[in-house]
Amino acid sequence: MTMARVLAIESSCDETACAVVDGLRVRSSVVASQIEVHAPFGGVVPELASRHHLDSLAPVIRAAIEQAGLEPTKLGAQLDALAVTDSPGLVGALLVGVQAARGLALATGLPLFGVHHMEGHLFSAFIADDSTASEPEPFAPHLALLVSGGHTELVEVHGLGRYELLGATRDDAAGEAFDKVAKLLGLSYPGGPIIDRLAAEGDPSAVAFPRAMLRSKDFDFSFAGLKTAVAVHLEREGQPRSRAELADLCASFQAAVVDVLVAKTCAARRARGCERVHVVGGVAANAGLRARFDDAAAREGFRLVTAPLRYCGDNAAMIAAAAAAHVAEGRAPRVVVQSSVALDE
Ligand code: KG4
Ligand code: ZN
Repeated sequence: MTMARVLAIESSCDETACAVVDGLRVRSSVVASQIEVHAPFGGVVPELASRHHLDSLAPVIRAAIEQAGLEPTKLGAQLDALAVTDSPGLVGALLVGVQAARGLALATGLPLFGVHHMEGHLFSAFIADDSTASEPEPFAPHLALLVSGGHTELVEVHGLGRYELLGATRDDAAGEAFDKVAKLLGLSYPGGPIIDRLAAEGDPSAVAFPRAMLRSKDFDFSFAGLKTAVAVHLEREGQPRSRAELADLCASFQAAVVDVLVAKTCAARRARGCERVHVVGGVAANAGLRARFDDAAAREGFRLVTAPLRYCGDNAAMIAAAAAAHVAEGRAPRVVVQSSVALDE
């Protein structure tokens, strides 16, 4: 089998998603966000996430099937496999998706593949919408910077299923730092996109925030100190008194995060001799980060692939594409909730 048609479910955090792909081609991708549910709490409330996945999942699956032009009663014949994110994530949230996928597998007789969420993010840089004319590029070796709300990792991808963890955050993930600093500034959840927009108006050199571990020889990150530095600054100076001051703070904070992410990724690339760098995960949507990586790629002459904006955040198309690649390779189906199988050293 060269190209598998797969339906996948993703429910690891606060997006309920379902998608259908033909290999790397996305036939449909439906995402129901729970942002409005969690925003009043300033972060994801696990119990609420599970309950809302329960409510949203059936209509989201139905919409993905319909948009892909499939017959709900003929899925067994129209698909090659089913997939579901089985780790890592909020356990209750994962279980909703996994149990729905098991039900579908029972009803259709299709094999069910568990996908590691971070392997899914790796595939977000390879998938292409049905409407794009050119053929998607096949999954190939590269250096990946995975930056999301829960993870900040540098992974050398040697091939399908061969992922070498070069470094990771020792405390907060980059997205988590954005969200926590937004909360300190009284901004809404998730803070990443809000800080990103404000930063575009501000002066990144207004406040000198620390660049942790910039000169360490390893490829690890740390963002907890930066968050504390923002808190200390606010204690000393008070909350920003104008939009311009707020924008300056956001720009200065964002520059500190971006500096470290870009410098460490480039150092890992040089050390490993990778000619290709991918930036994936929710934080890969950040305009400042994308611009700085564009500059670095032009300066150092490597090929840069940033995930398309609509596939940076959590979605099921990337999960389906990862599963489709494994199906094509003949991997045996299995689902293992909460066990890190894909990205560990
Ligand atoms: O990949 P994702 O959707 O979910 C996880 O797997 O965690 O990432 C969500 C994270 C949140 O922390 C959010 O604030 C951040 O990605 N994010 C951004 C931007 N858009 C989303 N951070 C910075 N700039 C953005 N434009
Ligand atoms: Zn994610």
